Amino acid sequence: MQKEMSEINKRAWSYRAYERWETKSGSPLETAKEMKRDPLQYVRRHIDYLGDVAGKKVAVLLGSSGRKAIPLAMLGAQVTVVDISPENARYALQTAKEAGVEINFIISDLFAINMVELRNTFDIVYLEGGILHYFADLEPFANIVFELLSHEGRLVLNDFHPIRKIIKARGDDAFVVEGDYFDTELFYGEVAYKSMFPDNEQDDFPDCLLRYWNLGEIISAIAACGLVIEKLVEEPRYDKHKNLPGNFTIIANKFKVDRGWD
Ligand SMILES: C[S@@+](CC[C@H](N)C(=O)[O-])C[C@H]1O[C@@H](n2cnc3c(N)ncnc32)[C@H](O)[C@@H]1O
Repeated sequence: MQKEMSEINKRAWSYRAYERWETKSGSPLETAKEMKRDPLQYVRRHIDYLGDVAGKKVAVLLGSSGRKAIPLAMLGAQVTVVDISPENARYALQTAKEAGVEINFIISDLFAINMVELRNTFDIVYLEGGILHYFADLEPFANIVFELLSHEGRLVLNDFHPIRKIIKARGDDAFVVEGDYFDTELFYGEVAYKSMFPDNEQDDFPDCLLRYWNLGEIISAIAACGLVIEKLVEEPRYDKHKNLPGNFTIIANKFKVDRGWD
């Protein structure tokens, strides 16, 4: 099922993605200039978990247009991105070049990367913002993360809080509860940037195939792969509704249990 899902999502994320980044952020040169002004700003929400990345090997999985990977490279990390979309890769590589940094961009389904080459390589595996719904099963994903991490490597996994799939904003102040938090079905949904294109062009956009995971399933998959979970941080929404969860971040380590009193 993952193979089919990845094919569908590759098609969706390869349709006009470069154009989308250009419209949203400007040309690769403009984006690079902006990143150079303050690279830390791009990773500010997670830098405390990532720590000092200078000299570290960092894998940014599903790293898209390089929005996080390039600033991390500017901060001195050796960055590898894995993403399935050649359109994203083109934008990211041009931006990295304009920014004067190198990133290694692997255009591939995460589930098809060369594990023999990459096993035990990374000090940090970092994922953020719109990740887990691309996976048909979390166990193979968690196992890949475990394998990619070096001894004492660290996972920083950030994503949308699962409660957001059923508590939906309607206008400025109203929310409705819709759907089933425990639903396990795959479903077709719009690629994230489709709504930014004119109405009369939207019919041409291929849909993504997605699966929503709940918090119990997510944390259980990370624990089951053998990583030691240090923290699960639930974070408020970025809009004015700070009383509701918006995102979560899991920090988990390989082979390291710090009880604080050893
Ligand atoms: C919403 S973006 C994630 C946000 C991203 N961290 C950023 O910096 O913008 C999701 C990305 O996942 C990629 N993707 C989806 N399924 C994938 C898979 N099976 N393997 C690798 N990349 C995948 C898409 O191409 C897309 O760039």
